[in-house]
Amino acid sequence: MTAGESMGDREGPDWWPLAEPFKIKVVERLRRTTREERAELIRRAGYNLFNLRSSDVYIDLLTDSGTSAMSDTQWAALMVGDEAYAGSRSFYRLKEAVEEVMGFPYVIPTHQGRAAENVLFTTLVKEGHIVPNNMHFDTTKAHVEHRGARALDLAGEWAYDPVADLPFKGDIDLELLDRALAEHGEAVPFVMITVTCNSGGGQPVSMANIRGAAEICRRRGVPLFLDAARFAENAYFIKLREPGYADVSIRDIVREMFSYADGCTVSGKKDALVNIGGFIALRDGDLYRRATVWAVLFEGFPTYGGLAGRDMEAMARGLEEVVDEDYLAYRIEQVAYLGRRLKEAGVPIIEPVGGHAVYLDALRFLPDLPREEFPGQALAVELYVEGGVRGVEIGTVLAGRDPETGENRYPRLEMVRLALPRRVYTCRHLDVVAETCQRVLDRRGEVVGLEFEEEPPVLRHFTARFRRVPRSAVGET
Ligand code: F0G
Repeated sequence: MTAGESMGDREGPDWWPLAEPFKIKVVERLRRTTREERAELIRRAGYNLFNLRSSDVYIDLLTDSGTSAMSDTQWAALMVGDEAYAGSRSFYRLKEAVEEVMGFPYVIPTHQGRAAENVLFTTLVKEGHIVPNNMHFDTTKAHVEHRGARALDLAGEWAYDPVADLPFKGDIDLELLDRALAEHGEAVPFVMITVTCNSGGGQPVSMANIRGAAEICRRRGVPLFLDAARFAENAYFIKLREPGYADVSIRDIVREMFSYADGCTVSGKKDALVNIGGFIALRDGDLYRRATVWAVLFEGFPTYGGLAGRDMEAMARGLEEVVDEDYLAYRIEQVAYLGRRLKEAGVPIIEPVGGHAVYLDALRFLPDLPREEFPGQALAVELYVEGGVRGVEIGTVLAGRDPETGENRYPRLEMVRLALPRRVYTCRHLDVVAETCQRVLDRRGEVVGLEFEEEPPVLRHFTARFRRVPRSAVGET
């Protein structure tokens, strides 16, 4: 199967009632601001949403990473964290949870996902290597390149079509994979599949695809790892969309997904439902021992690896909570709800919506704005000014300049990502988000483009400053 058959009417979970499967015990106050205040705040922030203080944001959809609300059980677990330097009880709790949920016997805790990449890639990736992935996440790509290797994205064409109605747009192209392994042979230290595929819009990967990739890897003698930051969300899509899995439990789907892999890197800040943390999980004891050498150097002793004992306790409980089907039904349905509200309002989005975010299609939203004026960034700025909603541009600003020509790189998609923190906002908040987008759409002719005021040489999206492009026909606000 390649990305699956068209979804037709297969979508739509048969869950009722569908309200949040939790009640709220602790709340955090949100400060509301006026439109005038926001126009001034974003001007002072150089029209870069990363420069805003979170207290000036009403609904913060910058990322789903590290922004989850922990459960009462996770908070309680903090108190029983064992802070021993070596042999911490909490490490063994985490190890048991990983083995129970994912089936891997060896675990190296790390302070977050990119640290897991650093440790594993330092162990396995050498100069001149080539690492295939469906689509590398930015830090994953950067760590591959940091080792002097090349990151190869092998998602199929379907991943780049913003409206193709396919269930598994995160699938790796198995033909391309087979060809890459035949061509590069020994130069491929491993293959990685990112579930769900964040850089492709949070799109899921099918079980058939993971199984198919594993068969190819086995035939060619290359290990397969999952970048498993959003493994549970991926499993829920398999249950919902892949023939034969409707009656299989999420726990069994998760176990099957990982059964095809030799290990995984995990950012715990997503599906492990914690604010900081990550880990590497492995099947092979020898690889584990080789990786621990680097873990000690970069992260810490192998039984804490850059985390406090209490962080490992919370992550262990998070892994157990995230495979709860009621939780996942709520989670995936909440993201779908925002997608539906936006579509009803005529807001152009990338479809189908993924597991953790809705992506606005800035090129269809602002068709009159030239790409040199950063329509994605301009749209993200307008959402903030209009409703205090903070998303993030995934487009030209993020893509940076071509190192050879010095020109801006124009990616095929120019998007604004609205990522939903887990268990944090209610559907009422999402109504405000949809209304905000609709209001900007209604006055899209007034939206003004941006140009650089200050452009840092690397990772410019984090710290760049912009100004609005003067237009004779349009006012400044
Ligand atoms: N892999 C994937 C698929 C990710 O989405 C991320 C982070 C990482 C690895 C790195 O993990 O942040 O714990 O070091 N994604 C965040 C995001 C930052 O906003 O999508 P980390």
